[in-house]
Amino acid sequence: MWISKIKINNFRNYKQEEIKLDKNINLFYGENAQGKTNIIEAIFLGSMGKSFRAKKDKEMIKLNSEKAEVEIEYKKSNRDGKIKIELSNKKNIYLNGIKIKKLSQLLGNINIIIFTPDDINILKGSPQNRRRFLDIMISQLKPNYMYHLNLYLKTLEQRNNYLKQIREERKDENLLDIWDEKLIEEAAIIYQYRKEYMDKIKEKIKKIHQEITNNKEEIEIEYLSECQTKENYFKILKERRKLDMIKGFTTKGIHRDDFVIYINKKQLDIYGSQGQHRTAILSLKLSELNIVKEEIGEEPILLLDDFMSELDEKRIKSFLNKIENTQVIITCTEKIDVENKKILIYNVKEGSIN
Ligand SMILES: Nc1ncnc2c1ncn2[C@@H]1O[C@H](COP(=O)(O)OP(=O)(O)OP(=O)(O)O)[C@@H](O)[C@H]1O
Ligand SMILES: [Mg+2]
Repeated sequence: MWISKIKINNFRNYKQEEIKLDKNINLFYGENAQGKTNIIEAIFLGSMGKSFRAKKDKEMIKLNSEKAEVEIEYKKSNRDGKIKIELSNKKNIYLNGIKIKKLSQLLGNINIIIFTPDDINILKGSPQNRRRFLDIMISQLKPNYMYHLNLYLKTLEQRNNYLKQIREERKDENLLDIWDEKLIEEAAIIYQYRKEYMDKIKEKIKKIHQEITNNKEEIEIEYLSECQTKENYFKILKERRKLDMIKGFTTKGIHRDDFVIYINKKQLDIYGSQGQHRTAILSLKLSELNIVKEEIGEEPILLLDDFMSELDEKRIKSFLNKIENTQVIITCTEKIDVENKKILIYNVKEGSIN
């Protein structure tokens, strides 16, 4: 699939812009703090209904403006579509001119794979980064996933509030059973989705990583969850109840899921070199790309933010050469050349694009 046009109004440092995109590679280059990542963010917003970096939607509205608008026209193999998002005191989302009620109706329309310099934290950072990676991928493919995840997180918040009330106001501990049941129910559904997609990643990444490293490295991934079965999670919640009450929050659950990566049987985040981390993140992203492609039956859009900063030229070329018939949107501080590929180039300067 590909995006043919983006219109943005009062979004971040943009007043009003209309950008036509090419089906193949699009490069936005410019100095720091000019608005390159803001373009990627606008596309991400059109795909996921939220930002990948803002804590609050409000941050995306141009300072001293009331309302931001992002409109994206896209083409899929079997249909064209238009998504419009308005951010003001509240968020309105329109799909082909019709206002939608649930975020799950937006997900899956514009399929993206995003690659930012922060992605190295999927490997090096806290488990939260790895869960987020999974959540972004799965929710685009299975909009229902986000629904259940949100329900789980809401229930978790309620349980945590109640745990604090038990601690501080000596409320009845037995009422926790209600939250536990609901948590277990949702966790089981989320686990099934995550397990399914972790298995797919495991399978894909093995081959891709071998190719990228000329058979020098073997990559393995282990998915860690304490919610493999309802019985297991039930047992854990019961065992940890006293501790949860002391701490005032739920110490175990699907919100603590994680995965570990091994290169040649050694844990990457502990023993891996800088180069091994960079190669592994490429393999992980290419696996994601392949999985999404297989599931939706066409190429997702690739968003590469600040592409040069994390990768050297060799890795960039090997990455771009693996990609064909894919719309790529790259931001970069320098103009780059990719052999044998046609590139549409835009310069970004102080919130205007030329
Ligand atoms: N809500 C907002 N209203 C107005 N300007 C904003 C808003 N949010 C961010 N900006 C401005 O947008 C600019 C940053 O945009 P962006 O993150 O896209 O930069 P960039 O070109 O990707 O830079 P870098 O190369 O450093 O990553 C900054 O000048 C910032 O002040
Ligand atoms: Mg940037």
